[in-house]
Amino acid sequence: MEQQQDKTIDQATDTNKDEVVVYIKGLKKSFGDKDVLNNINLDLKRGENVVVLGKSGQGKSVTIQCIVGLLKPDEGELTVFGESVADMDDKELKQLRIRIGFLFQSGALYDSMTVRENLEFPLTRVLKIKDQQEINQRVEEVLDGVGLLDAIDKLPSDLSGGMRKRVGLARTLIVKPEIMLYDEPTTGLDPITSREISELILNMQKKYKTSSIIITHDMECAKITADRVVVMNEGEYVAEGSFDELVKSDNEFVRSFFNEKS
Ligand SMILES: Nc1ncnc2c1ncn2[C@@H]1O[C@H](COP(=O)(O)OP(=O)(O)OP(=O)(O)O)[C@@H](O)[C@H]1O
Ligand SMILES: [Mg+2]
Repeated sequence: MEQQQDKTIDQATDTNKDEVVVYIKGLKKSFGDKDVLNNINLDLKRGENVVVLGKSGQGKSVTIQCIVGLLKPDEGELTVFGESVADMDDKELKQLRIRIGFLFQSGALYDSMTVRENLEFPLTRVLKIKDQQEINQRVEEVLDGVGLLDAIDKLPSDLSGGMRKRVGLARTLIVKPEIMLYDEPTTGLDPITSREISELILNMQKKYKTSSIIITHDMECAKITADRVVVMNEGEYVAEGSFDELVKSDNEFVRSFFNEKS
């Protein structure tokens, strides 16, 4: 039975797996005289998990902020679902951000609200859903998905760091985004919790068929989640391949990066 279900999911993903949902070509961005992005090129296909590796301050978060239109690139092409982000007006950007889930580096929750209230927030405020039954059902489904149904009436302060990360992830997933952007999803977590979050990211890809960009320094997270890995250095992508290909790369920088971090 389970095997059959998996097959259905594969077939559904197969039909449009070549669709490029994020297209980045020759992207450049400077702040004052500091060149941060020099020439970023990236295709994210539907249903794919792409991991971006790079040292601190390389412009990984800046790239993500360009994708959701929070920062404007100086040069280059950047389209999401085939539309140029730079040409979108405020209304179009708002629509776009409903289709893109963004897990912040901090994963901030509202401290004075219970887990349930934190999760209801995007449903009532962003999607403007009024039907309480539908709200309850979606809150419970997504919490169950991250294994935290028991914590529904707790406050964020009653939860561990890993549990808060899960709630943050649930709050992003509850609007069913087609694209997920994860900025350092495992930073600050112990190795066991990090692995759980990485496995959750993989499960979410399977369950919701999301396309994801995962920025991380965590090699285990990369190994677990990546269909494809890109390595970033000095504002450019210097290597691309599967995790196993890159570990054995001829490029010394790429290899040293893997060795240093693993
Ligand atoms: N809004 C901004 N104004 C000016 N400089 C910025 C801005 N945002 C980022 N920068 C600079 O751009 C560079 C890249 O920052 P970014 O946050 O993208 O790095 P990162 O690769 O995500 O690093 P980390 O791994 O530490 O998160 C840094 O030098 C940063 O100071
Ligand atoms: Mg960053």
